[in-house]
Amino acid sequence: MKALVYHSPDNISLENVPMPLILLSTDAIVKISTTTICGTDLHILKGDVPTIKNGRVLVHEGVGVVEEVGNEVTGFKKGDKVLISLITSCGRCSFCKKGMYSHCKNGGWMLGNSIDGTQAEYVRIPFADNGLYLLPPDADEDAAVMLSCILPTGLECGTVKGQVQPGDTIAIVGAGPVGLATLLTSKLFSPAKIIMIDIDDNRLEIAKSFGAKYTINSADGKAYEKVMKLTDNAGVDVVIEAVGLSDTFDICQSIIAPGGNIANVGVHGKPVSLRLENLWSKNITLTTRLVDAGTTSMLLKMVLSGKLDAKKLVSHHFEMKDIVKAYDTFKNAAHNHAVKVVISNRDI
Ligand SMILES: NC(=O)c1ccc[n+]([C@@H]2O[C@H](COP(=O)([O-])OP(=O)(O)OC[C@H]3O[C@@H](n4cnc5c(N)ncnc54)[C@H](O)[C@@H]3O)[C@@H](O)[C@H]2O)c1
Ligand SMILES: [Zn+2]
Ligand SMILES: [Zn+2]
Repeated sequence: MKALVYHSPDNISLENVPMPLILLSTDAIVKISTTTICGTDLHILKGDVPTIKNGRVLVHEGVGVVEEVGNEVTGFKKGDKVLISLITSCGRCSFCKKGMYSHCKNGGWMLGNSIDGTQAEYVRIPFADNGLYLLPPDADEDAAVMLSCILPTGLECGTVKGQVQPGDTIAIVGAGPVGLATLLTSKLFSPAKIIMIDIDDNRLEIAKSFGAKYTINSADGKAYEKVMKLTDNAGVDVVIEAVGLSDTFDICQSIIAPGGNIANVGVHGKPVSLRLENLWSKNITLTTRLVDAGTTSMLLKMVLSGKLDAKKLVSHHFEMKDIVKAYDTFKNAAHNHAVKVVISNRDI
């Protein structure tokens, strides 16, 4: 079968690989129909995620149809349309029992990381009863695939960890798919003002159309001054970092109000400095989180009922044969006016 294979930083190609097989009785094999690319995959291409080895099939997001199930899989059968969660969880270990599925001792973030991922014709899903979600046969796949990673990430690592409250002034640094998913889910908690910060004017325009009251292009290095002006020098109650760079983490540290919460979402490949000389007296809370995807069922209901318009995060469509072009488009998002690029597996 064809799959998108990682070899080394900036070296990926669409090539023939062996079909995945059921290895454990709790596995399922899913035929992929729709997949996409995450900002984390861009970090992988930059060499920021050292766990990814030469030969790995990339990506943790996908929708497909169950092809085969192991003997112990009870919730799914051949022919079911399914959403694939990025998180693999056994449901039994001490971390799973605490709801920290991303740290499952037998799973965690495996797809496109420690095991082959979804940018292939078929993928093996361990603990399929936990990692798959049944979709109605007519479910919109563009909307559904936004639930594999970015919507649970925005909600759990950004909105919930940041403890967004009604009336808050919040800032989101990074208007990529994850930052925009954070924006959409933060609105469930009625913040009074959302300030979106990025260097891509197109994504900032999209943020405005999604409900950001203010947008700031931080390319001039003046994000701090602009946020202070917008908040009467108070700073923001919650700031969410959705980029993964030292510079953007610095913006978060500089604009947080006393008593506020900084929720880091971005994957960091390099150290950042914690400005404790400024923060020690500010009563702030700093959180980090790898998405657990425990909110996927709830978000799926919202998407299927039309309460959450996930499809509007999609900007481009590609066929699997053009997947390398899809990476180029997403990598050069500002130039291409790209947000989430969806890849269809119909035609390889
Ligand atoms: N914690 C988790 O579990 C988790 C899960 C998924 C993704 N992530 C991470 O979330 C982050 C965002 O993901 P994404 O898919 O939206 O990525 P993305 O690369 O599409 O978006 C990043 C955004 O940051 C902006 N940006 C880049 N440099 C900037 C700068 N100096 N100042 C301001 N803005 C800048 C870009 O213009 C872009 O809009 C990534 O780091 C990704 O790895 C974390
Ligand atoms: Zn992701
Ligand atoms: Zn577990």
